[in-house]
Amino acid sequence: MTRRILVTSALPYANGSLHLGHMLEQIQTDIWVRFQRARGHECHYVCADDTHGSPVMLKAESLGKTPEQFIAEVSAEHQADSRDFLIEHANYGSTHSESNRVLAQDIYRRLNAKGHIARRTISQLFDPEKQMFLPDRFVKGECPKCGAADQYGDSCDACGATYSPTELKNPRSAVSGATPVLKDSEHYFFDLPSFADALQDWIAHSRLDSAIVNKLKEWFEGGLQQWDISRDAPYFGFEIPDAPGKYFYVWLDAPIGYMASFQELCERTGLNFDEFWAEGATTEVYHFIGKDIMYFHTLFWPAMLKGAGFRQPTSVYTHGYVTVNGTKMSKSKGTFIKARTYLEQLSPEYLRYYFAAKLGAGVDDLDLNLEDFQNRVNADLVGKVVNIASRCAGFIHKNFGGKLGATNVNPALTGEFQAAAESIATAYEGREFAKAVREIMALADKANAYIAETAPWALVKAGKLEEAHGVCSVALNLFRLLMIYLKPILPATVAASEQFLAIAPLSWADSQSLLGEHAIKPFIPLMQRIEKDKIDAMIEASKETTQAPAPADAAKPKTAGHVQPGQVEAIKDTISIDDFDKVDLRIATIVSAEHVEGAEKLLKLQLDIGGETRQVFAGIKSAYAPEALVGKLTVMVANLAPRKMKFGLSEGMVLAAGPGGKDLFILNPDAGAAPGMRVK
Ligand code: MSP
Ligand code: ZN
Repeated sequence: MTRRILVTSALPYANGSLHLGHMLEQIQTDIWVRFQRARGHECHYVCADDTHGSPVMLKAESLGKTPEQFIAEVSAEHQADSRDFLIEHANYGSTHSESNRVLAQDIYRRLNAKGHIARRTISQLFDPEKQMFLPDRFVKGECPKCGAADQYGDSCDACGATYSPTELKNPRSAVSGATPVLKDSEHYFFDLPSFADALQDWIAHSRLDSAIVNKLKEWFEGGLQQWDISRDAPYFGFEIPDAPGKYFYVWLDAPIGYMASFQELCERTGLNFDEFWAEGATTEVYHFIGKDIMYFHTLFWPAMLKGAGFRQPTSVYTHGYVTVNGTKMSKSKGTFIKARTYLEQLSPEYLRYYFAAKLGAGVDDLDLNLEDFQNRVNADLVGKVVNIASRCAGFIHKNFGGKLGATNVNPALTGEFQAAAESIATAYEGREFAKAVREIMALADKANAYIAETAPWALVKAGKLEEAHGVCSVALNLFRLLMIYLKPILPATVAASEQFLAIAPLSWADSQSLLGEHAIKPFIPLMQRIEKDKIDAMIEASKETTQAPAPADAAKPKTAGHVQPGQVEAIKDTISIDDFDKVDLRIATIVSAEHVEGAEKLLKLQLDIGGETRQVFAGIKSAYAPEALVGKLTVMVANLAPRKMKFGLSEGMVLAAGPGGKDLFILNPDAGAAPGMRVK
């Protein structure tokens, strides 16, 4: 039966850039959505920017912009970041939209009509200069408990105490510096306690994670409170109907933004809004969120929906926080990594894979350990998965006209891969992505073991061509099955593989069929290894400098990002003449050149630099046969510290120019140059 599903991830605040914590959530959601679609279900994924509230209003003001102008810019940035992480939102809205205004006011009117809104006067800190009430985070002063200076109005960073802003000693407004005064104002409250029974009922039926259910129990035991949903002008938000000067608190209209964004999708595509939101709807609605915003999604939101006569979410899926190298993301350590900073250095699929490999259904935090990240992606994706295709495709093209064999020579193995489809699907469905990845990688190990055992290269050498054909055809079928299972995580790599295999887009059901006699295309490199310098550059770029950037900084070329073949790499940061002087460049004669057993790109060179011979491993095999190099001259870095490589000691480096592949040029012998000559 085809399921009809609506999925959301939390609406990012429009007051800043997306970072890797946001990306964890969007990646988790996107993988789940792509999985559902691969299974043939109808699954819509919507999101939006959360635009209202004092922080956005004040930030826009400090930048000399209107809030509307500011949130439009932020929205464009957020959407570009999500898109480049291959997140497929069916619609990306804004809480500051006409559709959201209409829905929020409608929901409020329904709640009010049923008596769920109370009014009473409260007293709050007010900035007499700025003429505005101050949110807790905009009041600073000395901690009432320990006396630490410069603490926020809600909690103390020094001793951890929590308190109300009126308890701060010597309070100041963080907006104007003025001393705040207490002022009365009438506020509007949503009567959460009257929904206690309805909420208990929803909790019992919404298949929430046990950690969340426990948290909810605690909250119930502590007693539910009425919720303050109004803020006084000036406030960037929607006015409350029939209450001039009163605005909805940002968290009132934020989740309604889920509905509004979906409504925009309905208008564009003809989907029926009520089939997903009317009370009693049989479709499914899931919210993916982080653990910090559980209260809003498991108490206020289901209660509001109930009170206003809409359906409630099928479930709320909550994840933990991203840490980097074991600690909270930190600006000073360079581990507060923005989505864009990551993308400037690394491919989105590396992170999609790493997060998937560590994600379970629970609320545990997820550590991005950068060394483990590099090792795991390189070992699993490049070393195990892509390798299967690159090892076998060559044989198929060289010896068998690019065609797979008609007979399956190892039905037991292909059958085992096909049978895994169900348990991998169960893991994806239950958001146990780490388990899915473990199973997929165990299969990849089996595929590699099969290739190693049958050694098609040896079969070819021994003239057993038919056998080699059978083995490579099985291996490429195994690769295709792995692509099906990895597709929710690696949509771009799988799309490239579909091209290479010359097949239509893969769906989950395709796992139950195999490729028989079938022509494939030449192999294309599917994924590159992660180089450590890219990670280092990302950390460097994330470090917050204490000084404001000098104007010259803006003109400085960016560090080389993800360079595609044929693309020109950005020039690196300048070095001084003294730095350059340290590099000792010498003309060298290539005395001998030979293949290196087990190295794809390297040649082993012996270089004469005028009386001294150096051994250097150079990555120029793609451009030169070894015999073509003997007698040629090259420029070498003669004083590079010797480096121990897997294949032996490398005592320098040769210079060659060109885009790579076949086009890498070194010098031809010339009467004017002699070994050992310095190059200036
Ligand atoms: N605007 C609200 C959500 C409104 S939903 C109706 C909000 N915005 S946020 O930008 O602060 O966070 C958006 C999502 O990112 C939240 O689910 C939050 O938990 C998640 N994360 C923010 N930082 C995170 C990490 N460091 N790690 C994982 N998720 C994190 O809250
Ligand atoms: Zn304190």
